[in-house]
Amino acid sequence: TASYETILVETRGRVGLITLNRPQALNALNDAIFRDLAQALDAFAADDGIGAVVLTGSAKAFAAGADIKEMASKDFIAAYTGNLIENWTCISRFRKPIVAAVAGYALGGGCEIAMMCDFIIAADTAKFGQPEIKLGTIPGSGGTQRLTKLIGRSKAMDMVLTGRMMDAAEAERSGLVSRVVPADQLLDETLKAAETIAGYSLPITMLAKEAVHRADETSLAEGVLFERRLFHATFGTEDRREGMAAFTEKRPPAFKHR
Ligand code: CAA
Repeated sequence: TASYETILVETRGRVGLITLNRPQALNALNDAIFRDLAQALDAFAADDGIGAVVLTGSAKAFAAGADIKEMASKDFIAAYTGNLIENWTCISRFRKPIVAAVAGYALGGGCEIAMMCDFIIAADTAKFGQPEIKLGTIPGSGGTQRLTKLIGRSKAMDMVLTGRMMDAAEAERSGLVSRVVPADQLLDETLKAAETIAGYSLPITMLAKEAVHRADETSLAEGVLFERRLFHATFGTEDRREGMAAFTEKRPPAFKHR
């Protein structure tokens, strides 16, 4: 595997594991991290042996936000012409399932990249927040949008306008994270979920992911139509045939396109 400056990249069976690794800055998200992430995600996208990815950080911080020191001196023209934040979309554009395993701080951009993943499993130590308001700015990578869709306007406004942190229990109650686990089990539990996903047919998990994300973009009628067409499309795959045959024959399915 390639070696990177700001992340650690491993494979565990059919799961790709990316660990943010700038401990001196609590994994603050700088340009170098996104160069590395884009390259690692491209490699996992192209690798038929990878069926799902886990994105994690350290015990203290998933990521404490965009790198404030890197941004501090930019003016509007630099931010605009340089299309500041555009390179972060390597995560939201990744088409295979990707799960965030969050312990410690997930603040600002850290919370935002966790929300770009398909779902978040949190350690009981996790702390989420959009504290940009304290810096004289606002969330710049989906914090006002994905957070609102996940937890509703009232709570999103509270987080974005006060800049307060939310603990893991509140994050689970609000629907920001799918489950909370003890910190020492975070990686195992998340890898287990990712292995389960990676054990299914890859084109089918990709279709499922695409259909769910579509819900954020469309009306119910259009979304249901989109879903129906993708559901129909699964009937064109050997793996759909195999999955249903295996059920009927009371045996585990042997998916071909894993
Ligand atoms: N950018 C750059 N450096 C950061 C950083 C960030 N977002 N967060 C932490 N660091 C650095 C600190 O500067 C410090 O470095 P030095 O030792 O060189 O001073 C090191 O990481 C350790 O941090 P602290 O000493 O502050 O650790 P702490 O335990 O006392 O506090 C914390 C932890 C509460 C997370 C605090 O570091 C903090 O508030 N960080 C900033 C959080 C924040 O505002 N995030 C939003 C960023 S803006 C954004 O993300 C924009 C967007 O939407 C795209």
